Amino acid sequence: MERLVSSWCNDGDLPQSYICPPETRPGKITIPSGDNIPVINLGEASINRNNTVINVLKASHEFGFFQVVNHGISERLLNDTMKVVAEFFKMPMEDKASLYSEDPNRVCRLYTSNTNYGTEKYHLWRDVLKHPCHQLEACIKLWPQKPTRYRDVVGTFSVEAKKLGLKILELLCDGLGLESGYLEDDMSETLLLVANHYPPCPDPSLTLGLPKHCDPNLITILLQGATYGLQVFKDGQWIGVRPLPNALVVNIGLQLRIVSNNKLKSAEHRVVTNSKVARTTVGLFIGSCDDSIIEPAKSLTSAAEPPLYRPFRYREFLSYHFASMGDTELTLQPFKVSI
Ligand code: OGA
Ligand code: NI
Repeated sequence: MERLVSSWCNDGDLPQSYICPPETRPGKITIPSGDNIPVINLGEASINRNNTVINVLKASHEFGFFQVVNHGISERLLNDTMKVVAEFFKMPMEDKASLYSEDPNRVCRLYTSNTNYGTEKYHLWRDVLKHPCHQLEACIKLWPQKPTRYRDVVGTFSVEAKKLGLKILELLCDGLGLESGYLEDDMSETLLLVANHYPPCPDPSLTLGLPKHCDPNLITILLQGATYGLQVFKDGQWIGVRPLPNALVVNIGLQLRIVSNNKLKSAEHRVVTNSKVARTTVGLFIGSCDDSIIEPAKSLTSAAEPPLYRPFRYREFLSYHFASMGDTELTLQPFKVSI
């Protein structure tokens, strides 16, 4: 529990164990939060669906990252979600103690840094609350009891964000030429809520909230709030994801890159810290059941475009993902078909 960054971060200098290797340090160069990441108005889908399909497909193909506005989730729910999650992290340590665990197998847990604090080479400047959201009735009982509105608000957010995720997946199915519903049911049944809390940091040039990684799942819907910190790696450069009011950030995970046989991109991204304010983000990670078979969709492959990956169970993939510590090519290697 005393390992949580939020419990000691006001104590002074950045501890040595939080300094990341020179090649991954953000350094003193400020990366502006640019306008480069596509912003898609999903409200247009009801008027001109074809155009929305084209925009979503283009953004997923070129960037693997975009923001959505007019997405159908109310401003009030977004604000309430951010508020209740930020309140959770602000609660006194004794109110959070029962959720703190260093056991990665614990279903609902509060922890710090990455999956394995004890063995990692350096620590990350973040605390995390992570729990499943499906089946809601069963797992909600394991969620935090305080703040009192947590279960109600986050439960509703998870339902709405899943709906939004499915809507975007359906637009992508259309764009790719996959049959409607291809990415539904067990392909997108697992829902994991990850609330990240990055306290103000004494030296943001030396440490990271999250190092460069791709999300392993199908698609992620992220509420990033008003504080900047997320960056996407594109064409050898970092670009910032500008916080926009009431927008949600969407990113394509490795699973969808594989199913699309590389027609969609899964962009590497990272989180930098800042010295002034705490940053809180809430992500809903939509993915397959552990036992689902993942493979390039048959309708997207042909003699001219053979499958680039072999079929595998998602469970097997996750074990490689965690072992390779965010190195995307290393994660994908055992699943690639050698041509
Ligand atoms: C993640 C992630 C981004 C952020 O949790 O995988 O990329 O801004 N989060 O917190
Ligand atoms: Ni991520």
